[in-house]
Amino acid sequence: MAASSEVGPDLTTSELIEVRRSDVHGLGVFAAKRIPKGTRIIEYVGERVSHDEADRRYEEKDADDSHTFLFIVDSKTVIDAGVDGNDARFFNHSCDPNCESTVEKRRVYIEAIRDIEPGAELTYDYQIQREDDDPDNIDEVFACRCGFPQCRGTMLWPTERKKPKKKAKTAARKKSASAAARKTKTATRKKTKTAAQQKRVVVKKKFKRGGRRR
Ligand SMILES: C[S@@+](CC[C@H](N)C(=O)[O-])C[C@H]1O[C@@H](n2cnc3c(N)ncnc32)[C@H](O)[C@@H]1O
Ligand SMILES: [Zn+2]
Repeated sequence: MAASSEVGPDLTTSELIEVRRSDVHGLGVFAAKRIPKGTRIIEYVGERVSHDEADRRYEEKDADDSHTFLFIVDSKTVIDAGVDGNDARFFNHSCDPNCESTVEKRRVYIEAIRDIEPGAELTYDYQIQREDDDPDNIDEVFACRCGFPQCRGTMLWPTERKKPKKKAKTAARKKSASAAARKTKTATRKKTKTAAQQKRVVVKKKFKRGGRRR
């Protein structure tokens, strides 16, 4: 049996994008051509390591530097795109992204969630999760410079919303029912879950619990 029939297209490189200086931060990824909504653009690759190994690699770095090439696949595996990474490691974060990350069979891909015009910077929401023992200046360390007028000011994912009070319940229920319907629709269409739906950490904070250098 030809094994190649099960192998998808090679998405470790892409002619749809180019890497150059970004106003958001350092290098960024830009559309080299028009990219239609729903396009799977590139696979996020790098060395696959355990969480412990990822923590070990980055623990010596300055705790006030948020720069990271780590992407969490699941509770066991982190991709360190600092080793054997491709252009996917240069996607910057935005609070109003035109792409999203998806995980399929433990591989990570970046896909367009809007039609993207040539020259536009490609971004996704890093959705970095908060932890109970984050240092006080965590929002400062992970400050966002995406430039979106309603930027949430940080690359961290917002804290969980408190449950609505009784009075507001019906409206809130209606709202969440339609949100759930929208989510189901997206999940069915794509047959993959976005990171937010899986409640996963997407980009891993590079320092250990407590956020301090050891
Ligand atoms: C995967 S790298 C992205 C590529 C990066 N611009 C570079 O040149 O290496 C992720 C890092 O870029 C920076 N970064 C990405 N998006 C940002 C944003 N919206 N605001 C501030 N810094 C950002 C942060 O330091 C983050 O940890
Ligand atoms: Zn922002």
